[in-house]
Amino acid sequence: MKALVLSGGHGTRMRPITHTSAKQLIPIANRPVLFYGLDALKEAGITEVGIVVGDTADEVMNTVGDGSRWGLEITYIQQDAPRGLAHCVLISKDFLQDDDFVLYLGDNFIVNGITGVVDEFRQQRPDAHILLTKVEDPSRFGVAELNPDGTVRKLVEKPKEPRSDLAIVGVYLFTPKIHDAVNAIRPSKRGELEITDAMQWLLDHGHDVRSHEITGYWKDTGQVEDMLECNRMVLETFSADVRGDLDEESTVIGRVVIHETAQIRRSHLVGPLVIGAGAKVSDSYIGPFTSIGDGCELADTEVESSIVMDRSTIRGVHRVQDSLIGRDVHVMPARDVPRTHQLVLGDHSRVRIVR
Ligand code: DAU
Repeated sequence: MKALVLSGGHGTRMRPITHTSAKQLIPIANRPVLFYGLDALKEAGITEVGIVVGDTADEVMNTVGDGSRWGLEITYIQQDAPRGLAHCVLISKDFLQDDDFVLYLGDNFIVNGITGVVDEFRQQRPDAHILLTKVEDPSRFGVAELNPDGTVRKLVEKPKEPRSDLAIVGVYLFTPKIHDAVNAIRPSKRGELEITDAMQWLLDHGHDVRSHEITGYWKDTGQVEDMLECNRMVLETFSADVRGDLDEESTVIGRVVIHETAQIRRSHLVGPLVIGAGAKVSDSYIGPFTSIGDGCELADTEVESSIVMDRSTIRGVHRVQDSLIGRDVHVMPARDVPRTHQLVLGDHSRVRIVR
């Protein structure tokens, strides 16, 4: 069994971070979200993995490498433009050949892995097996309608008026039958070849599409709030591991993870939180559910419930909360006179300023 991991696409809802970087590489507890998916595949006993890449191919390839870190054999497959999830399957036929495979969306985050469902699929081999979960806003997802006996009746992509609250999770298991489907369907109204339509095609042609409702935690990390929530979830699982250079005037409470090369001076840290390699923190408060990336500098600052990505500087700001801060960002106070906000923001940035 192989895996096809999708790491192309545009990531429009995560702008401006995704103007310059792949959304699948945004860190959760200081590890790219994509890494958690690769962990899950390895754990399920899959070693041959194809990764579909788009505009951000170089960044994804440099970050993930050849997969040897996981014991995976990775093949990269270039997609010319985000033409849909089923298009990804279509262009990956040479890699997939006639093997069964897991299709794993690189921006999806699942707690507790996929080993159970992969094992079940290996035994039963229906033509397609999907995971479903109840959500409050089904119109953001592919939605499944089930028959009274629990079999799948209909699958619709992002319906305006959803007929159920069961969203399709971004992990699918397929036999090679899916290739007939992706070859048969036409682009949807939004111009994409939808994997949901391919599975509906399987249903319409009498093939066996099964579903399984998951109750564990799952997030499509498509939006900033989702990222922050995943970050909270993962930090929650950490045990304290305080290394680094911490002076006597600093205090640490709860599950705090500090890299051995980080430096902390006169600061108050309340976990769960993680501080990355080479980060420098002085005269600051870092509150729960915060990830501070490698090489960051925080001085005279308070940060809570946030993700601060590598090499960013925050100085003299009280306080930053519920924020996603990209790489190499500088946040600092304006001059006292005139009292004015001075902003240099990328396209599609969002700023909330205290009045
Ligand atoms: O997250 C679950 C949802 O994922 C399902 O409920 C939907 O049925 C399914 O269509 C999908 O919806 P999204 O709108 O969230 O998909 P998105 O465009 O975000 O793409 C998912 C991943 O696949 C993401 O990591 C980007 C990548 N991708 C996407 C497209 C369209 C590609 O690599 N190539 C593509 O052409």
